[in-house]
Amino acid sequence: MMKVLVTGKIPQEVMALIKKDHRVEAHGEDRPMERGLLLDLVGDKDGLLCMITDRVDEELLNRAPHLKMIANLAVGFDNIDMAAATSRGIPVSNTPDVLTDATADLTLALILATARRIVEGDKRTRAGKFRYWAPFLFLGRDVSGKTLGIVGLGRIGKAVAQRVNGFKMRVLYHDPHPLSPSLEKKLGVTHVDFETLLVQSDFVSVHVPLSDETRHLLDSEALAKMKPTAYLINTSRGPIVDEQALEKALRRRKIAGAGLDVYEKEPHVEPGLLKMENVVLLPHMGSATIETRTGMAQKAAENLIAGLSGEKPPDCLNWEDIS
Ligand code: DGY
Repeated sequence: MMKVLVTGKIPQEVMALIKKDHRVEAHGEDRPMERGLLLDLVGDKDGLLCMITDRVDEELLNRAPHLKMIANLAVGFDNIDMAAATSRGIPVSNTPDVLTDATADLTLALILATARRIVEGDKRTRAGKFRYWAPFLFLGRDVSGKTLGIVGLGRIGKAVAQRVNGFKMRVLYHDPHPLSPSLEKKLGVTHVDFETLLVQSDFVSVHVPLSDETRHLLDSEALAKMKPTAYLINTSRGPIVDEQALEKALRRRKIAGAGLDVYEKEPHVEPGLLKMENVVLLPHMGSATIETRTGMAQKAAENLIAGLSGEKPPDCLNWEDIS
């Protein structure tokens, strides 16, 4: 029986699965574990099931000399210092696939909400300001037939492309690993360079993981290339967009609007954005459905259990580098 720390709330049935074979210390509350407590509790643990809000860095790893497995409850793992974990021979896993559909669905929700001014319309109606119908009231922009630019055609990017087929959209994408022509045809997407994507798209949707290469990929220069009628959608990681530059671009009407689920300094949001009606702001909820979060917890637990038993965790990110 090994000692495990679970840093966030997970479904009871998933917790029971871990508890069958391991002694679990858990943070029962549905909010991030305070850093000091995390550092204290991880000290004697063999396994860590952590959240994206936990920074797993040198400091933490130095405090956890027995750690044999880290299972992140997310597909993104930029909260984990992979080099530090790998150099200590610790397998790290994430939760791919299970959240692809939920995140793609939310991306579509943001595309529709920004272009059709859904949140603004709801607010006005609730405020008793729906007084009459008139031809020029609440005009948004068409989504159907427009051009969508997908930055990063991984699992979620592809799922977004599949969904917009029904909207008869032209889909451009930019990715360091373009698809074969036959797969492009099947998915109805066309590979272009980054600049062409920015210049031609009516909606630019970001689906790359956060890394040194993608940090501030959407900076002031990139935003300046977008159409003044275009919308930026980000459901991946906040720091991929320079949030101050975005605020400036929106304020100066260089682009039409934005739909954001993630922020550069989460949970802080650039104050200027909070005042803008043409921006839809969500609290990092791309994967937040009962089915998806349960699936993510299940996956994280399966990875944790496999790693602690010395087997290759099914979603291990660094197995080749440590074995
Ligand atoms: C992830 O999985 O990386 C999301 O951001 C949280 O679900």
